[in-house]
Amino acid sequence: MIFEPFQIKNLQFKNRIIRSSIGGRTSFYDGTVTSAFKNFEKRFAQHGVSGIISATISVNDKRTSPLEYPKLSDDRFIKPLAAAIKAVQKFDCRYIVQIGDTGGHTHTSLFPQQEDAQSASSVFDLFYGYRTLHKAMTIEEVEQTIENFAEAARRVRQAGADGLEITASKGYIIQQFLNPGVNRRADRYGGSIDNRFRILEEIVVGVRKAIGDDFPLGIRLSAADHNYLPMNIRLPIRFPLKHWYFGNTITQNLYFAKKLKGLGVDYLHIDKGYGFINPKGNPGSFPVEEMKMFYNSNRHLSRKAWWRAALFNSIPNFLLRPIANIGWHDTPAVSADDAKRFREEIGLPVIANGGFQARSIIEETLLAGKADLVAMARPLLANVDLVEQFRRGVECPENPCTHCNRCPIRTANSPLGCYDPTRFASVDEMEAQIMQWSASSDEQISNE
Ligand SMILES: Cc1cc2nc3c(=O)[nH]c(=O)nc-3n(C[C@H](O)[C@H](O)[C@H](O)COP(=O)(O)O)c2cc1C
Repeated sequence: MIFEPFQIKNLQFKNRIIRSSIGGRTSFYDGTVTSAFKNFEKRFAQHGVSGIISATISVNDKRTSPLEYPKLSDDRFIKPLAAAIKAVQKFDCRYIVQIGDTGGHTHTSLFPQQEDAQSASSVFDLFYGYRTLHKAMTIEEVEQTIENFAEAARRVRQAGADGLEITASKGYIIQQFLNPGVNRRADRYGGSIDNRFRILEEIVVGVRKAIGDDFPLGIRLSAADHNYLPMNIRLPIRFPLKHWYFGNTITQNLYFAKKLKGLGVDYLHIDKGYGFINPKGNPGSFPVEEMKMFYNSNRHLSRKAWWRAALFNSIPNFLLRPIANIGWHDTPAVSADDAKRFREEIGLPVIANGGFQARSIIEETLLAGKADLVAMARPLLANVDLVEQFRRGVECPENPCTHCNRCPIRTANSPLGCYDPTRFASVDEMEAQIMQWSASSDEQISNE
């Protein structure tokens, strides 16, 4: 079934495998995509995926995930993105732009800035974001954010993309509002489930108006928040404790999905967990060494970041590894069973995300009606030709992705690529692989 076509609205996918969002430092300092962005995306398209979902492209001019991530907060970003999209589409590969806003989960910035603290409510979160304390957005800031999404959506269509995805997952701003363990507001954007949903509702309405009814629109939604994973301190504690400990469960997220269908959303992209990275969204191991590198790289930004780095540095790896790995498992097709519930109970096309690599598991997921499409990130970074291998009947690549989770942490500071040394004969070979990702003799993208 992997090689059967599938259609969402007017969008035809030649097979069922989509490259999931992979963000990295592939933009100029101002957020304009570079040739590295284009060449990186093009490699997946050349090797047979039917569609690509972009990295989370920021709708906010101030906040990006880490530095040099792409932005769509101004019209000047449209033309260079359009060039990258065109390069991908030449390979009969659909390009969906994902837009988002990291809010209080902004990982790093040039200098500490208040904008990076903005969230639904004032919460201390040890693991995600660098600001010591999140700051509750004012109503005007919420309204501005809704407008930012709509404006960015218009730019996505102008750039010639095939579709648009809004991320309401990854622990970014929308999920910060949806999540009852994080959102402690008492105004119209907090409290009841409908109030917590309101920001997403207004974003979807604004975005739909900006892109028109005929343009495919999807939402990346977490099936369940699992607030307690990874082991984290989110303070102050919130009552009822189940909200603090679990966040939204699948019941609440199915409720959101039903409302999204009513608002005219065309597909759901289902993953799991709260925060990037988290053990349900990126099943595998916790990358202790990489996390130390990352925390050390941003410890100058806030008191929290300084103490967090000090805490991690003070625990030797042999002790930290088992503690930090609590809850982290390599679970194949981690969200597939949840995706099935969304597909059956909501009746929209569903993309399942996380932990796919073996051909038979993908086949089984599709055949059992758990999902219509499967999205993959890390296994395609490890074996860019995986779809071609599947076509030749390969069950699992000879040198598979180990789900070590070094790559999603490295992405904040280093070029994109596979960082698992066990997969390479030497460090030189690993470095050559990393450098190859953005290589091309094509015309360069400029930010002028
Ligand atoms: C290097 C890297 C960068 C990522 N960047 C993004 C991103 O910008 N936005 C997003 O929604 N997900 C991002 N993800 C998450 C992936 O899209 C995917 O959901 C996750 O890796 C689980 O899928 P997998 O098991 O196929 O890797 C990233 C993952 C990796 C490995």
